[in-house]
Amino acid sequence: MRRMMLAAAAAVLTAALAAPVVAPPAMAAPTHTVTYDKYSLKVDGERILLWGGEFHYFRLPSPSLWRDVLEKIRAAGFNGVSLYFSWAYHSPAPGVYDFTGVRDVDRLLDMAKELGLYVVVRPGPYINAETSGGGFPAWLKQVPGRARSSDPGYTAAYREWLGHLNPIIARHQVTRGGSVIAYNVENEYAANTDAQYMQDLQDTARAAGIDVPITHNQCCDASWTPTWASGLGAVQIPGVDDYPQSFECQAPDTWGTWGEGVTERLTDSAPVYAAEYQAGSIDLNRAGYDACRENLTGPSFMKYFYKNNLVASGATMFGFYMAYGGTNWGWLGQPNDVYTSYDYGAAITEARQLTDKYAEFKRQGYFVTSVAPLTKTDPAAGPASSNPALTTVARANPDTGTQFVLLRHTDRAATTLDESTLDWSTPDGRYSVPVSLDGRDAHVLVAGYDMGGQRLAWSTSEIMTHARIGGRDVAVLYGRDGSAGSTVLRYRSKPSVRVLAGSVRSSYSDGELRLDYTHHGLARVLVSGGGRPPALLLLGTDEEAANFWRADTSSGPVLVRGTSLVRSARVSGSTVTLRADVASAGEVEVFAPARRLVIGSTPVPVRTTASGSLVGSVSGPASVRLPRLTDWQSRAEPVVTDDRSWPVASHATSESPFPPVTRPVLYAGDYGADYGHVWYQGSFTATGAETAVSLNAITGKNGVYQVWLNGRYLGWANGGTQADSEPPVNPRPGPGTFTLPALAPGTPAVISVLVGNMGHNDDWTADDNRFKQPRGLVGAELVGSSAPVTWRLQGNRPDRLRGPLNNGGLHGERAGWYLPDASAKGWGRPAATVQPGVTWYRTEFDLDLPRGQDVPVGLRFDGAGEYRALIFVNGWQLGQFTANLGPQREFVLPAGVLREHGGNTVTLAVVALDEATLGPVSLVALANHTGGVPIENLPTR
Ligand code: GAL
Repeated sequence: MRRMMLAAAAAVLTAALAAPVVAPPAMAAPTHTVTYDKYSLKVDGERILLWGGEFHYFRLPSPSLWRDVLEKIRAAGFNGVSLYFSWAYHSPAPGVYDFTGVRDVDRLLDMAKELGLYVVVRPGPYINAETSGGGFPAWLKQVPGRARSSDPGYTAAYREWLGHLNPIIARHQVTRGGSVIAYNVENEYAANTDAQYMQDLQDTARAAGIDVPITHNQCCDASWTPTWASGLGAVQIPGVDDYPQSFECQAPDTWGTWGEGVTERLTDSAPVYAAEYQAGSIDLNRAGYDACRENLTGPSFMKYFYKNNLVASGATMFGFYMAYGGTNWGWLGQPNDVYTSYDYGAAITEARQLTDKYAEFKRQGYFVTSVAPLTKTDPAAGPASSNPALTTVARANPDTGTQFVLLRHTDRAATTLDESTLDWSTPDGRYSVPVSLDGRDAHVLVAGYDMGGQRLAWSTSEIMTHARIGGRDVAVLYGRDGSAGSTVLRYRSKPSVRVLAGSVRSSYSDGELRLDYTHHGLARVLVSGGGRPPALLLLGTDEEAANFWRADTSSGPVLVRGTSLVRSARVSGSTVTLRADVASAGEVEVFAPARRLVIGSTPVPVRTTASGSLVGSVSGPASVRLPRLTDWQSRAEPVVTDDRSWPVASHATSESPFPPVTRPVLYAGDYGADYGHVWYQGSFTATGAETAVSLNAITGKNGVYQVWLNGRYLGWANGGTQADSEPPVNPRPGPGTFTLPALAPGTPAVISVLVGNMGHNDDWTADDNRFKQPRGLVGAELVGSSAPVTWRLQGNRPDRLRGPLNNGGLHGERAGWYLPDASAKGWGRPAATVQPGVTWYRTEFDLDLPRGQDVPVGLRFDGAGEYRALIFVNGWQLGQFTANLGPQREFVLPAGVLREHGGNTVTLAVVALDEATLGPVSLVALANHTGGVPIENLPTR
């Protein structure tokens, strides 16, 4: 832990410097105290500003890549992560829990600690997160008692989950030398609340040894009650979730539909906690995630809303949702709001690439974690602005006097570039300060700050970061390209000023050095003498600033300009070694107490610059060619099969709040068919009078079901999404009537129905009415005949290695056709078209990607038509291509599941509604970098 170790290293009086130091790994992890007051969390008494990004390990089935993503999160300046834990992901059945392989959260928490990231754990039990059942296992639908209440049935179930998880979390707490700094109970628990339940969750945690502060994320704003700030069930640090942009990525001009997004203070005894702050969006209407990233939640949104929130709310705890979204692989996703990709338009894409949003996170994250006085501020009077179009909001640190002034447009939706003069009373005097601001931007200006060994009176450039490197203060300040900037520093006597690059005017009078410049490129100013340590000021544009990386080493921080990612740095003797990724050849410049540079294991020839840095050049990655996918084999799934081993639908009653309209009960979950497809077979002896079969299914949004009689296709219908709890109960949510061909009286007949369930509803309203909606057939009757029908059904069988959500109940899934070592028997050359029903395809290919490069690979579909394809790679179900719905055509295949050096098998289960053509399927390289992390292949059996 960067800060923790710093604190443990004794009371080095670097509070204002906040230059975190990573100590070498200790044998026994030192323990720490975690406390808090109205301003901030404190570790061993030292205040921290927790700048966390949300990450879902369960959306990235490759522990090696957890490290990649966590390193990228840290490199963006985050000092923390928020982690949901998904109950469903770990539990295929009551009493059965698995924390191995891709579910090894112990390993995840170890990694967070190694990387110096604080963790806010969010174990639910309910998490929402657009996961099937909001993270509840499907089997919970069969448990009597309202979920998210203190009902005994539900209580016994969640205690089982927390009984497994809490002890793991407990041993990773900061207080025991680990990374967990706070424990969040429940999730946006606002409707149908039960205070005893909230209290029980906390008592359960405490009994398991959780002693870090307990938090909660209140939905949306304090108008939602209760806030859990007081009374039974109150948590120590109540937080608020804010999604000011809502979730419509189709609308490019959205600007705060859901308000200012200023996190409310819910109590005076704890810091303001922005538990979930919007950092991307679900793609409700399938605009594609790039629209979410660029239009809705892009850098402008981040600049305005995040900075506005930082200064207006004084929050010192943040969880940005999401830093990295990931993939709804298997049947992980909730059906209504998401598709396979959970990219989320986040700063780091699903294919683990860094975007413009990442650059903005870096500018802000480095600032908030470098400038310590931000951890303790009170509202203060902002400087008056001469132009009413611009306005200020301010906070000040009561101990140091340091001021943080937000400069924003008075009309937050303004799109104009405006200028003004601020009448600014700073701790160092009163100044008339010219400023300018673009529309949909905001600046945080700092005054009265001991910036390392320097005294910053004020600046109209924003501070990105500063660090003491080799006895000098190196500071990176920035502003919009072409805008004017001024920085005023105080000295005891006139210092010497050398402008090494760019055009900067300097003047000195009365102890003040004033620098005036236009932000353009990267100006460099060396200041020495004047009774202070030397300083190198790097004054750049937004873009130039984003080229810098900061990495902490045991010899202090280093700064790097260039490369596409600096994961970590080490200084030993006179050599600085970087773990860095490079997308294309270019210059690299390093500010470190060193004379030699090594990147990875390659020495990089360098020269020393007048800035005191090392400059060299790095080469880019070797190009890659991926194999074409050829030699497909295919095999059709039988429609009528021997069903004698299948359970008979025989139940007369159901736990579902929706009383069945036909009996026996046909609900899939009532017979253990929890995820994905379910095959039903209804056997009867024809009377000859049957004219049709009338069916009814609930699949969740976008689900379909298909019907055959004696193997002959009768057609398909959309499955329903919602049954009504009000009378008339169960009003035919997904009706379909299928005409039967004439049947001879007395002949045996079989109706086959394939129901494609898309996942379980969430439980946002905590009333069981959504969550406990049945799946599968909810009604079936013959029209024209009362011949008794015996229904049997076949659902999923959990894959022990890949987890409960990997598979549904397709015949080929149950028979293991999706596995890479499936027998070749029964497979043949594919026909030109796919017939309605399920046709399996498989092919093998070898990969040998260049060693030491990170090449995320995707599977691309170019076909169209009425079909879906479940994608299995080496047995892992990585998504569903919905040819008729879009928008996703490329599916990320995570390294580890994908063998980058060796043989791979792609297997597709194509579910065609009408005759269709699969269309081209190909491998695509989604990026190419040198660097990356070592990849551990997942087992296939
Ligand atoms: C929040 C919720 C998260 C997630 C998010 C939208 O309200 O707490 O779990 O669902 O909305 O992506």
